[in-house]
Amino acid sequence: MPLQIIIGTQWGDEGKGRIVDWYAARGEYTARYNGGDNAGHTVTVGKQIFKLHLIPSGIIHPQMTAILGNGMVVNPQTLLEEMDMLRQAGVSVSSGRLRLSHAAHLITPAHQALDKALEGKRGTGQIGTTGRGIGPAYTDKAARRGLRVGDMLTPDFDARLGNHITEANRTLDMLGAPPLDPKPVCEIFLQSAAKLRPHIADTSLELHTALQNGKTVLAEGAQGTLLDIDLGTYPYVTSSSTTASGALIGLGLGLDAACNATVTGVVKAFQTRVGSGPFPTEVFDELGRRLRGSGEHPWDEYGTTTGRPRRVGWLDGVLLKYAVRVNGVSELAVTKLDILSGMECLQLCTAYRFNGQLLTELPLVPADLDHFEPVYDELPGWSGDISAARNVSDLPPAAIAYLDRLVSLTGIPVRLVSVGPEREQVVKY
Ligand code: GDP
Ligand code: IMO
Ligand code: MG
Repeated sequence: MPLQIIIGTQWGDEGKGRIVDWYAARGEYTARYNGGDNAGHTVTVGKQIFKLHLIPSGIIHPQMTAILGNGMVVNPQTLLEEMDMLRQAGVSVSSGRLRLSHAAHLITPAHQALDKALEGKRGTGQIGTTGRGIGPAYTDKAARRGLRVGDMLTPDFDARLGNHITEANRTLDMLGAPPLDPKPVCEIFLQSAAKLRPHIADTSLELHTALQNGKTVLAEGAQGTLLDIDLGTYPYVTSSSTTASGALIGLGLGLDAACNATVTGVVKAFQTRVGSGPFPTEVFDELGRRLRGSGEHPWDEYGTTTGRPRRVGWLDGVLLKYAVRVNGVSELAVTKLDILSGMECLQLCTAYRFNGQLLTELPLVPADLDHFEPVYDELPGWSGDISAARNVSDLPPAAIAYLDRLVSLTGIPVRLVSVGPEREQVVKY
C-alpha cells in the first residue's frame, strides 16, 4: 500500500489522529499536507495523550519519518513547542526523522492578529475560526506575497518580514486593531529559523523517491471534507484543500502516486462541528448533552485546539456519500462507536426534504444546507459497553447492523471500527 491518504469525511475531529496512529504501526513515512495548527489530532498511548497540531500523528511510532508538506501553513513557534513536547515524552524529533518543506508557508503573529481582527468585524457572519492565522496566511500565499519556510534561510528575510508586519499593521489599523512591533517579531522568527534550519528539506523529492522505492507514505488530512475551501460548506470552511486530492498538491506528488493509493475516510459514528455554519442533523438539549459528553472524559466533544464545546448531531449519510464521492474513498474507518452505546434508538439521515422534494444526493455543493430538513432512518440501539470489543463477534447485533447500514448507504467497506481512544481499542471489520 504505497500511498494511503487518511481524511476526515465530516467537519473535522473525526478521530483522524488515532486512525493514522493505528496504521503507522507499519510503514515508513507519516505526512501532513494541509492546514496548520488549527488542527488538533489526538493519539492516546496508555497514559500518554498526545495532542498534535502540526506534526503528523504517525510520529509516535519510532520507525516513521515525519514530513510537513508544502501545502501547510506553519507557525515556527508552535512547531518548536510541539517538538519540545514530543522530546519530553521520549519521542525523537531529530532532523533525521522530522522534515519540513521549504515551500510551506509561514504563519506570523501578524496573520494571527489579522485572523482575530477580521473575525471581530464579521459580526453575526463569524466563521468561528481557531484564531491561528490560517486564513490570512493562505490569503498571502494566494496573493503571492507570502513568506515561505525556505525564505527564513535567505539574507533578506529580516527585511521582508519587517515589510510584511508594516503592511499588516496598515490593515490592522483599518480594522481598528492594535499594531504589532516588528522588532521583537523579527527577532523571535530569526531564532526559530536557526532552530528549524536542519529540518528544512525538499520533501517532495524525498516522498517521490520513497514511493518509487516501494515505501509506504501515510498522508494525513487535517480538518474534514466539509471544511474544504472548494468542496465544503463555504464560506464556513477553512482555507485549504482538506480532501484527498489535496494530498498530491500539498505533498508535491504527481498523479502517478494516486494510481494505487488507498483513501481511508474517517467517519465519526455521529456528526460534530466547531464554529458556525449549516448543520442539518444538529441536536440540542438533553440529546445534545448526551452525545457531547459532560467534559469529564478527554474524548468528550470539546475542541482539541480551542477547548470550545462542539456542536453535535446524528450522522448525516447524505453528506457522508458526498464525502465518499469527492474524495474517492476506498475504505471507511468508523470512530467513537462506543459513544452510541446505551441509546435506545439511533437516527441516520439518509435524505433531505427541500421545497417538497426528497433529495438523496446534494444538489451542487453543500453551500446552503440551512433549509434542508433531514429525513431519518431509525435503527435500534444497543446497551452495554463495547469498548473492550476487538472482534466483530464481540459487537452487539444492533451495532453491526448500524455499521452494515453505512456500508449499504455508501457502497464502501468499513475496515476499522474504533471503540475507544486507546491504540488497541479497534475492531478490524
Ligand atoms: P482528529 O482531529 O480527527 O484527529 O480528532 P480529535 O483528536 O480532535 O478528536 C477526537 C477525540 O476522540 C480525541 O479525544 C480522541 O482521543 C477521541 N477518540 C478517537 N476515537 C475514539 C473512539 O473510538 N472512542 C472514544 N471514546 N474516543 C475516541
Ligand atoms: P482537525 O484537523 C474541527 C474549523 C473552525 C472554523 C473553521 C475555520 O482537528 O479536525 P480556521 O481557523 O481553519 O480558519 O477555522 O474551521 N476548524 C476545525 N474544526 N477540526 C479542525 O481540525 C478544524 N480546523 C478548523 O472551527 O469553523
Ligand atoms: Mg481535531
